[in-house]
Amino acid sequence: MKIKKAVIPAAGLGTRVLPASKSMPKEMLPIVDKPAIQYIVEEAVKSGIEDILIITSRGKTTVEDHFDRNPELEARLLASKKQEVYDQMVAISHMANIQYVRQKETKGLGHAVLCAKAFVGNEPFAVLYGDDVILNGERPACRELCEAYEEFGVGVAGIKPVPMEDISKYCSLAIEKVEGKDRVFHLTDMIEKPSLTEVLSNYSILGRVVLPPEIFPILEKTRPGAGGEIQLTDAMKVLAQTKGMMGVEYTGTRYDMGNKFGILQAIVEVALQHPQVKDQFRDYLKEVAARL
Ligand code: UTP
Repeated sequence: MKIKKAVIPAAGLGTRVLPASKSMPKEMLPIVDKPAIQYIVEEAVKSGIEDILIITSRGKTTVEDHFDRNPELEARLLASKKQEVYDQMVAISHMANIQYVRQKETKGLGHAVLCAKAFVGNEPFAVLYGDDVILNGERPACRELCEAYEEFGVGVAGIKPVPMEDISKYCSLAIEKVEGKDRVFHLTDMIEKPSLTEVLSNYSILGRVVLPPEIFPILEKTRPGAGGEIQLTDAMKVLAQTKGMMGVEYTGTRYDMGNKFGILQAIVEVALQHPQVKDQFRDYLKEVAARL
């Protein structure tokens, strides 16, 4: 079954990037000239997604404004003959059919996904975490996962190794390689923010999952876990151990926009490829590197 719907949870408090995220959603932090969430919507659209639900919360109305028309700005751009920029601005509001729902309390990623139950209905759907931008893959990460879902018919998580010393900040996975398949694994167990004795491996779920609608009754029964939040990992563990789940090590690089260093890495990578600034930026970086 083709995956046509995606959910982008973007209701978190962004406490790791304060004060930047105090009055501006971290999902709106710019990577050179586009907010992070636009890269994510673009990835979803390139993956064949048609309907997107963004989970927002108080103080996140700029996300809605960004994907809306702005008649005053558009009129000004046309009057000053900036047709190309005008076209770009209008195109943003036509990228996909985007809807919004508010997560009234920040009770965790699992709770945010549960807010999408009515939107999703009885179909499989993709979840693209609103602060994880994935760039430079052979194909869009979301598409790599959707294709695996279509092939295996079970939930699929986008996975990557992380440094072992950092695994306690992520979820840790027990994985078994699928014979004859590159980058594809069975997920047999998972634990969110494990203590050192609980670590299963240094593989973690990073930023993308494709789930069947069976996740919703599980989420409804999921009690708060690590950090007192309703964890999507806890629900996916139940799914993995009942219906089965796969992991796909997607080919792109993931940048964590909820983390100061991740933001800097994303900006440098995009700037080095950006047609308008790449040459100037490369020269500048060399000059800076020579001073280090
Ligand atoms: P994170 O745990 O990285 O986001 O969730 P956070 O809670 O904003 O982070 P810190 O620790 O306070 O810095 C991953 C994604 O899930 C969303 C976030 O907006 C982010 O895009 N999220 C998280 C929700 O939508 N609702 C929640 O209750 C929690």
